Amino acid sequence: MGVEDPVLVQQLANLQIDPNFVLPPEHRPTRKYNDYTAAGEQVPVIDLSSLRRSNKNPGEEEEEGEEGSRRSSLIHEKLVEQVGKACEEWGFFQVINHGISLSLLDEVETNALNFFALPLEEKSKVRRTFENALGYYDSELTKNVRDWKEVFDFTTRGVLELPVASSGNEEQIHVYKNQWPENPSTFREVCEKWSKSVEGLAFELLGLIAESLGLPATYFHKYWLRDDSNFIRLNYYPKCPVPNLTLGVSRHKDGGGLTVLVQDEVGGLEVRRKDGEWIGIKPQRDAFVINVGDLFQVWSNDKYKSVEHRVVVNENKARFSVPFFFNPSQSTDVAPVPQLLGENLPLYRQYNWGEFLQTRKGSNFKNLVRRKGRTYQSRSRVRKDWP
Ligand code: OGA
Ligand code: NI
Repeated sequence: MGVEDPVLVQQLANLQIDPNFVLPPEHRPTRKYNDYTAAGEQVPVIDLSSLRRSNKNPGEEEEEGEEGSRRSSLIHEKLVEQVGKACEEWGFFQVINHGISLSLLDEVETNALNFFALPLEEKSKVRRTFENALGYYDSELTKNVRDWKEVFDFTTRGVLELPVASSGNEEQIHVYKNQWPENPSTFREVCEKWSKSVEGLAFELLGLIAESLGLPATYFHKYWLRDDSNFIRLNYYPKCPVPNLTLGVSRHKDGGGLTVLVQDEVGGLEVRRKDGEWIGIKPQRDAFVINVGDLFQVWSNDKYKSVEHRVVVNENKARFSVPFFFNPSQSTDVAPVPQLLGENLPLYRQYNWGEFLQTRKGSNFKNLVRRKGRTYQSRSRVRKDWP
């Protein structure tokens, strides 16, 4: 990819914008960040309140006896059906009444925005390096084009273990550790609280998705129980003077199990509908966006596809989002679930999740090696977008 048009080259130079941000014309956004007018169906919204029956307010009536349990199992069946339909038709859905405190979300947002507002020099103290994949980063590439965003990554367990590439037969594990900024002083505590509460919701969703495939609710839990590779990303998309040329995140699929994402009220997340149309997901303060990643595509042998999505940026407002990438233990071997094959042949060969994560990061060097000449900042250690 290169920018050849001399007018555009000049425009970028005047604005001091790295041409690495510019997408090939066919991948540029087609709609504005807050345009939700696409005709036809929108991403479904699913109400999870029935999962919280045990948390009823005092005084609220709980139905007892056989009739009550028959009713609640019908309600549960309906919920499972909605989840299955959304996974099959969209790969995406929103959930409401998810049981997570929105005031905690406010705290996460305030702390994160205060962090991103710090001078680059300060943020760079917790910068992700080749040796440590966690922390702050502002030069991520998706599909070899630079994303218009800054991120901060951390894991739920404080560490992320991955097999060392080309370690031969010896099983060698590299351990990455969370790195926390000193400033804001409450940042770490709030982020840790957030990750714990979203993890609970992610397990509930894992159960619903398993059931929707006709499996026991805890079928996939085993891949998360010993350890996991869950991680949380704080995404900050600054205002952009050329929103028609670039994206906050280029089109991509999430590689892991499932993603639980919260977004602020700005808008910009687009999902590829089955007919190829890009559909904006309208922000709803109390709704979380859920999508299944590549692992469910493999486990379900293509019944649930991992769907492309991207983020449109804008000139007026910075945007904030927090995806929780719910990913299994690095030791997980992934293959279609035998009970789900029926008469069909498996479409995927077994692979190891940890090795996949580890090798995926290398592919991003290409564009940088090719692009000689002017450098905008040190980007010699660019990693691939993991999720
Ligand atoms: C991601 C992603 C979407 C968003 O980080 O993988 O798809 O709305 N983010 O920020
Ligand atoms: Ni994504």
